[in-house]
Amino acid sequence: MKARYEQDRRQVEQTLSTCFSTRGFPFDGLLEAMEYSLLAGGKRIRPVLVLEFCRAAGGAPESALPIACAVEMLHTYSLIHDDLPCMDDDQLRRGKPTSHVKFGEWKALLAGDALQAEAFGTILRCKLPAERKAACAEILSGAAGIDGICGGQYLDLDGEGRALTEEMLTDIHGRKTGALLVAACQMGVAAAGGTEEQMESAGLYGAALGLAFQIRDDLLDELGTEEQLGKPIGSDRSEGKTTFYTLYGAERCQEMVTKLTEAAKLHAGTFSDSEFLNWLADYLADRTN
Ligand code: IPE
Ligand code: IPE
Ligand code: MG
Ligand code: MG
Ligand code: MG
Repeated sequence: MKARYEQDRRQVEQTLSTCFSTRGFPFDGLLEAMEYSLLAGGKRIRPVLVLEFCRAAGGAPESALPIACAVEMLHTYSLIHDDLPCMDDDQLRRGKPTSHVKFGEWKALLAGDALQAEAFGTILRCKLPAERKAACAEILSGAAGIDGICGGQYLDLDGEGRALTEEMLTDIHGRKTGALLVAACQMGVAAAGGTEEQMESAGLYGAALGLAFQIRDDLLDELGTEEQLGKPIGSDRSEGKTTFYTLYGAERCQEMVTKLTEAAKLHAGTFSDSEFLNWLADYLADRTN
């Protein structure tokens, strides 16, 4: 299964590297800043989920490659902005200086803005049937806006220096991280023209996986290493954030991750071929980067 993940990832890398190169784009500096972050590696979990849910719902994964690239563009925008001095103020991302460190704040801001807009353009220009593209764009906009990243990031930053409850934190994590993972799974199903039942299961799998993913991220922010993660450790503490780690400590956090991973796998069971989805959930539960 690891080989399949690597193969999906290679396909995504290859397609991402051609997204902006053939447009005759005149603003070289902006393009450079966009590609600096977009092509800096990363686990590519969200695009892999798009491809694999498309496959699981009976579609051809290649047909969903533009959707896969779009979700990675949107994710990369969210990372560039997340690292800005006015947000988490971090200097390292994907093993490289963050966008604002490399290019300055206004260029980082615009690179993020442009990546977000281009994500929607990439969906709307692709060759899928019009109603499937529209479904994907609607799903992605939901995950990016108030009920997703922006709403979650607002609550995350607004909560700095304050004690938050588990309920509040679950809501924040669901929005800032879970929503995009849900969207990735559901856009895969939408690209394949899957059923309502598949759409629902994809959403439940993504939500459980997403919460587990952010709890693990909070844990790694305390216990990981900068070399493995390619981003700073201790960022949450220095920004005064309440996280699952500060609420419950390492052991209980990992128990939660395990429980959520099992829940995700249960929902994957709706698909006739769930082997990869199960493997991926387990793989992410123990990730160290
Ligand atoms: C980091 O996402 C931000 C979170 C939502 C926790 P990833 O851990 O997927 O980062 P990359 O894409 O691999 O760099
Ligand atoms: C990430 O949360 C959420 C988004 C980027 C939307 P974090 O702030 O914990 O992510 P990292 O740890 O910087 O990757
Ligand atoms: Mg943050
Ligand atoms: Mg951050
Ligand atoms: Mg983090």
